[in-house]
Amino acid sequence: MEPESRKDDDDNLLGWGLDLEVSGTREKRVGEWKKPAPSSNSGGRRTRISKKQFGSGEDGAWDKFYAQKGIKFFKDRHNLRKFFPELLPEYQRDNPEEHHPKLKPDPDAYENGLDTPPADEVLADKLLVVEAGCGVGNACFPLLRANPEMFMFSFDFSKVAVDFLRSNAEYDPTRVFAFVGDLTKESDITSIVGRGKASFVTMIWVLSALTPESMPAAVLEANALLKKGGSVLLRDYAVGDLAQIRKCGYTTPVAPGLLRRGDGTIAYFFDIDGLKHLFESNGFKTEYIHYVDRQLENRKREIQMYRRWIQAKFEKIVE
Ligand SMILES: C[S@@+](CC[C@H](N)C(=O)[O-])C[C@H]1O[C@@H](n2cnc3c(N)ncnc32)[C@H](O)[C@@H]1O
Repeated sequence: MEPESRKDDDDNLLGWGLDLEVSGTREKRVGEWKKPAPSSNSGGRRTRISKKQFGSGEDGAWDKFYAQKGIKFFKDRHNLRKFFPELLPEYQRDNPEEHHPKLKPDPDAYENGLDTPPADEVLADKLLVVEAGCGVGNACFPLLRANPEMFMFSFDFSKVAVDFLRSNAEYDPTRVFAFVGDLTKESDITSIVGRGKASFVTMIWVLSALTPESMPAAVLEANALLKKGGSVLLRDYAVGDLAQIRKCGYTTPVAPGLLRRGDGTIAYFFDIDGLKHLFESNGFKTEYIHYVDRQLENRKREIQMYRRWIQAKFEKIVE
């Protein structure tokens, strides 16, 4: 049995409480709803991002976010096994919902400390996956449980998040190396993971946390991490999502498609053409890309929420 999703943390409705796959929301059914025109996301009052802010919103905003919300805000992302079967061993792909026991690290595995990247022999014959913007580990542990042959390099530029991830009882240095890194900074991640080694880079609601100006650098760094033929697996916000349409109260439009939340974090809403262009002009080809439309129910508040995300797979074709 998968653990029940955690209770709603009573966050505000129009900021994070209405946000992506957080605790307390439950998928009801795929809704037949009218898709708003892509242009409905833009316009409105605009706020400039000041010089103190940078490629991922306001300085320190994500550290503050995790310090305040702790580890219980986002749901564990068990459903990634269904959305991205390529991350599972072949024998698991027909049964992505199977329960897998928690990891039980051997205490001796910690002998090199938590700051030492894994030795080559630990990585030998493993499926190498780099998880960009890992947060506190909601994606990495469910995936690692399901694929014993996987090794994850999980990084986030929030030290608070990485410290949470490393202090998880399932943190096993023979299966995962978590570190602080900035996806938009040239070579920040490749200097630790190496170039051209990873089979996959996952971007789970991460690219949207960057300003559009810093996205090409992030895609180039992902490209450098991947082997030729390796892929980026992405799931993120899409234009027309409710969190974007309700751009009032806790969010402020900064530029077309870009919102700033009250806590200083930002969210960009992608459309298919723009996202394709971003990757295809930086050494990738599109394997698939589509919108995901969902009707979600917040049972506590008795409201229906029409959500729209984007899922894509991009294969590296050139350096
Ligand atoms: C919406 S959260 C998603 C977290 C996690 N992927 C998940 O699905 O639960 C976005 C994450 O991206 C991280 N992030 C934002 N900008 C980043 C950057 N430039 N480099 C690395 N991580 C970044 C944030 O710290 C935050 O943990």
